Amino acid sequence: MTLDPVPDRNLALELVRVTEAAAIAASKYVGRGDKNTADGAAVDAMRAVLGAISMDGIVVIGEGEKDDAPMLYNGERIGDGRPPLVDIAVDPIDGTTLTAKGRSGALAVIALSERGTMFNPGPCVYMEKLAVGPLGRGVVDLSATPTENLKALAKRLGKDITELGVVILDRPRHDDLVAEVREVGARVLSISDGDVAGAIATAWPNSGADILFGIGGTPEGVIAAAALKGLGGEIQGRLWPRDESERAQAVAEGYNLDKILSTDDLVAGDNAFFSATAITDGDFLRGVRFHDFGATTQSIVVRSRSGTVRLVETIHRHDKLADFSTAGI
Ligand code: FBP
Repeated sequence: MTLDPVPDRNLALELVRVTEAAAIAASKYVGRGDKNTADGAAVDAMRAVLGAISMDGIVVIGEGEKDDAPMLYNGERIGDGRPPLVDIAVDPIDGTTLTAKGRSGALAVIALSERGTMFNPGPCVYMEKLAVGPLGRGVVDLSATPTENLKALAKRLGKDITELGVVILDRPRHDDLVAEVREVGARVLSISDGDVAGAIATAWPNSGADILFGIGGTPEGVIAAAALKGLGGEIQGRLWPRDESERAQAVAEGYNLDKILSTDDLVAGDNAFFSATAITDGDFLRGVRFHDFGATTQSIVVRSRSGTVRLVETIHRHDKLADFSTAGI
């Protein structure tokens, strides 16, 4: 039997076990004020389940360089080495501070795509982002002003501009952006962390969010691109070096800092998989709940080729799973 080198099975259905494991592990540290321990627990659990998937995976977006990140480091090979050949982006906790403080909106997330299709941001930690749902696709442009984009989007959505919900990370660097959005009359939906969830919200029916603007993490941008591909939305990005040395390093490595990266630049092709499990309660998923026998999780699972979006609620029986699974999944 020859094995197809590209992913033709719905890997997202296997990935949900990965994000469930990370979310359950992280949720034991919700509200305990220690984001590093929570993150470490999520990484360990994610790695244990991910390693059991039949694939030849390379971590393109991981936890950092090998020396600092013993697991899920950039360049790490994962899986049993058999096809399909895939790129992997992980964020075991998007919202480590949300988790540590017991706030809503923390997710465990992962994305997979065919080998060579995932954007590697190199030294660039941040990028400017603009994300919209399916109806907004094609009418917004990161090179236009926020005002121009909001007007174009309002027209496309058939809404008054005052009815638009604009997700923006609450950071001093966004003060001017927030002022402009308010000036034009739209509603700022401020989030303290977690812009993967913020980007997904723009494509989620009746979430109240129509567009996401602002500077956030590049890993989160790539992961959001995989999700939005399947949800029918769009994300655009532009690398945003933090200082001169990061800028010089990016230029030396051949990055074009003026380029507007499309959804396809961030994740090329049409075979991406995404899974997210809620750690704490969010707008579209309920966080982990513990019971006497185990835990319940809620996840979304997306495959871009089919555009199928699954909401998965799972009851985990820890008494039974402990016998055959180190990760308890
Ligand atoms: P972490 O969970 O890794 O801390 O990321 C949370 C997050 O809010 C992301 O969703 C976002 O892209 C990024 O941090 C923004 O970075 P910063 O907090 O440095 O402004």
